[in-house]
Amino acid sequence: MAGLHYRGRPGAPLLNLDTDELARAYDRISSTRQFEMGKQLVADLAIRPGERVLDVGTGTGLLAHHIAELVGPTGRVHGVDPLPSRIHIAMDRARNRSNLSFEVSDVYDLAHLRDQSFDVICLNSVFHWLPEKTGPLLAFRRMLRPAGRIGISAVAKGPLMPVQEVVASVLAEPPFDRFPRERASLTFKIDHEEMRALFEMTGFAPTTIEVRPMEQNYASAEQAVRFLEASSFGNFLGHLPPEMVYRARVTILRRLAAIATEEGIKQQRGRLVAIAHRR
Ligand SMILES: C[S@@+](CC[C@H](N)C(=O)[O-])C[C@H]1O[C@@H](n2cnc3c(N)ncnc32)[C@H](O)[C@@H]1O
Repeated sequence: MAGLHYRGRPGAPLLNLDTDELARAYDRISSTRQFEMGKQLVADLAIRPGERVLDVGTGTGLLAHHIAELVGPTGRVHGVDPLPSRIHIAMDRARNRSNLSFEVSDVYDLAHLRDQSFDVICLNSVFHWLPEKTGPLLAFRRMLRPAGRIGISAVAKGPLMPVQEVVASVLAEPPFDRFPRERASLTFKIDHEEMRALFEMTGFAPTTIEVRPMEQNYASAEQAVRFLEASSFGNFLGHLPPEMVYRARVTILRRLAAIATEEGIKQQRGRLVAIAHRR
């Protein structure tokens, strides 16, 4: 039911475009990017030994593995993600850890997880991928014990960054403009006011809602495109017919190379960090 609701949303990311190669690339690339932001989120959540943590949109499980070390043998961490290739890598990583488990599961379909069975729920670099956010927050509230914490770290709503501007301008040109995306943006970013309203509506009391500056550096145009492909699980140019993807990729690379300096491409964006507890 909830899954249908989510898939009905215009522009919802497709979950069938991921590949083993993209999953491996994400595991490599995210270790110096999303993982660092995730460690900060976990520190902000002050996760303690013995706690039960749900990591939603766990990806390849790097952060979940880190949390499993923090909660120790008396705690446990469960990671869910709808992409089988990423969960496969996560499970490999969890082989010798009895307090860490993973499953292929969509955030819109978590009815099988018991009420009040977690102390903490975290979403690192996931919330902006969710087209509908009220249903998941209500589900998190149900699964958290009273006063349990939720931590969200996501790309904040803001103006287009240079890399996105280049991509948007290429996709607006012939022949790519014959295949417009349902929405210009792939993601569903919100600002701190919208985050506050969502917490209010779904029974959470916020302790932190802020937008922190975040520098995004790419060593080269190729690295920027690889990041976009891997972190969007194939959605980056996924709306184009296969025969056009290579052509669009080459054009984007050429335009990105033109804005790169000796230091590569640097851009500043905002990261929404939100911590709250269940009322
Ligand atoms: C940029 S990755 C972040 C992965 C991981 N949390 C990390 O910190 O590296 C975004 C993740 O959100 C997941 N995601 C997207 N839509 C989702 C959904 N409907 N339910 C659960 N996870 C979802 C993707 O599968 C992907 O693994």
